[in-house]
This record gives sequence, structure tokens and C-alpha cells, in this order.
Amino acid sequence: MNDVAILGCGHAPGKVILFGEHAVVYNRPALAVPVTQVGVEAIVERSAAGSGLIIDAEELRERVVLRDAPADQPLAAAARLTVAQLGLTEPDWRVVVRSTIPIASGMGSGAAVSTAIVRALVEAANSEYCKGMMSVHDASIDTQHAIRNTRYVLTPAEISALVYEVEKLHHGTPSGIDNTVIAYGQPVYFVRGRPPQPFAVGRPFTLVIADTGIRSPTRITVGEVRRCWAQEPARFEVLFDRVAAVVEAARVAIAVGEPEKLGLLMNENHALLQEMEVSCPELDALVAVARAAGALGAKLSGGGRGGNMIALVTAETAPQVAEALVAADAVRVIITEVR
Ligand code: PMV
Repeated sequence: MNDVAILGCGHAPGKVILFGEHAVVYNRPALAVPVTQVGVEAIVERSAAGSGLIIDAEELRERVVLRDAPADQPLAAAARLTVAQLGLTEPDWRVVVRSTIPIASGMGSGAAVSTAIVRALVEAANSEYCKGMMSVHDASIDTQHAIRNTRYVLTPAEISALVYEVEKLHHGTPSGIDNTVIAYGQPVYFVRGRPPQPFAVGRPFTLVIADTGIRSPTRITVGEVRRCWAQEPARFEVLFDRVAAVVEAARVAIAVGEPEKLGLLMNENHALLQEMEVSCPELDALVAVARAAGALGAKLSGGGRGGNMIALVTAETAPQVAEALVAADAVRVIITEVR
């Protein structure tokens, strides 16, 4: 058996946008929550001297050799930005990335991969470069451990800002919501350019998330909305304002513990997304199936034209809604509680 030295490990969850996608690009608010049933794990191993930094991402079928990778390669960019921010020279490390988040499906795969890589590199820097820093020989093992491991620290805000730079490579004008909800790992009320506000959930509620199986890069749908907005700015500004009103109402309903009110708001938000032409027959079909099976409301989530939809359910209706979505050809169904 090969003895591989593991230097660090980083994790990141997936996410869904509850309300406000697309309008959020135009400075309206949005609500998003982490989804921990899916996620990314990045592990850093020491590799041969002189090999440089290599990233192996199995699900993405990518092997990235940092010194050869172009500037716009997202995995390389995440690693380069982290190495620079920590003030390191390129280390001889291999980063193995494994993900259960579907790609281009509105669940934040890109931001989660970047976040996990950043976290793993920070942890590896601490274990690789902080040995021997202890001069207090009589400190307890715990204290030594704590001192050794806190030399390199990136706050959630710093990680989010770094991942945002990588998100720009995925699509030119990201709002920043994906990197924010994933780096902070908690429900956020988000307005572009403002510090994120974590929001309180007055009473937990349950969502069913179902995947159409259609991969739909966010760059394309964001570009389409931009084209439509440029053609009909007044109409789209009104649509975005109506989305903003839905988001504000949803935020209040969640905070005061009236999640059942979210159902109608989800339906309203979905109708507005249809008007923006970012839904598709497969998403509309899953939304209709979920409602018919007893969901209180349902909508697409994320960029649209494929990817995932979400449905608001109760503990009682969750199984029947999930079954109906599977029967309607959803390729994957997740039941998650927002708390
Ligand atoms: O990455 P996705 O597919 O969850 O979409 C992100 C949400 C958009 O509002 C469509 C784009 C953005 O940058 O906020």
C-alpha cells in the first residue's frame, strides 16, 4: 500500500435558490440555502518534489497541472488565487476533488468545487508550513495544535470573494449569490454588492428538489435574459421588481415561521421566470407534477432551461411528491429540510 501524506481536506455543500434568481443579477434581492445532501470534498496530498500543484477532479473528468493551465481554467484559478492570497510559492501537492453535485444544474457545483479547493489548500498550508512554529515547549498538545493550525486563515467573506473571482470565469456577470451561500454555509438574503445577511428560519420547512437531468450552463440563460432585457428594458425591470416583491414577502414568511405561505410565492416566482423565458417544458412538467401530488407550491431553481426545480412540501406530502417526481422522469430527487 502506498503511504500518501494527506495534508488537508476541504468541504462545501450544494445550494438552491429559494427565490429571486436572474432578478438578482439586476440588483434585486434573492434567498438561497445550502443543501448538505450533496457536496464537494477536496483532499490535498503531498506529491513528488518538483511536480508542482496538480488538481484531479474525477466527476469533472479534469486533470489540471497548474503550471500549464490557462488563466481562465476555473480549478486552476481557484488554486492560484488561494496560493497567492496565502503568500505561498506553488507547492508540490495533488488535490483530489470529488463531488456529488450535478454539474450545470443550478445547485452551485462550480462555486462548491472552488470553495472546497480553497479550504483544502488553507488546511494543507497550515499542516505543511506551520510545523516547528511552536516555541512554547510546555504548552499542552491541544494548545500546540491550535497555535500550529491558525497561521493561515481565510474568513468566509474572504473565501466568498475569492470564489467570486472564479465564478466570473464560469459566467461573466455572476451576482455572487452562489459563492456567498456556499462559503458562508447558511441561509442568506442576498443583494448584489452588499454584505450578505444570514436569515433566521422561524419554523423549519421541507423541500423536494428534483433534477430534470438537462444540463444548462448558467452563462447561457443569464446571457439570454440580458439580451431580452436589452430589447425590452421596461418590461424586464417590471418583472424584476415583481420578483423582488415576492422575495421580500418570502423573507418575512420564513422569519415569522409561516413557511406554508411560501407555496403561493413559489408559484408566483415560477410564473415570472416563465415570463423571462428561462423555464422549459421539462421544468414546467415537474413543477406541475409536484403541485398535483400535493406540494404547496413549486418553481424552477437556478439558471433554468434545465437543472433543478424545488417544491414546498410537508412531512406528510414529501414522500408522495418525491415519488410522483421520480415517476415523471426526474433523474434525482432530494428531500431536504431548511432550518
Ligand atoms: O448557478 P445557478 O444556475 O444556480 O444560477 C445562478 C443564479 C442566477 O441568478 C441565474 C445567476 C446569478 O449569477 O445569480
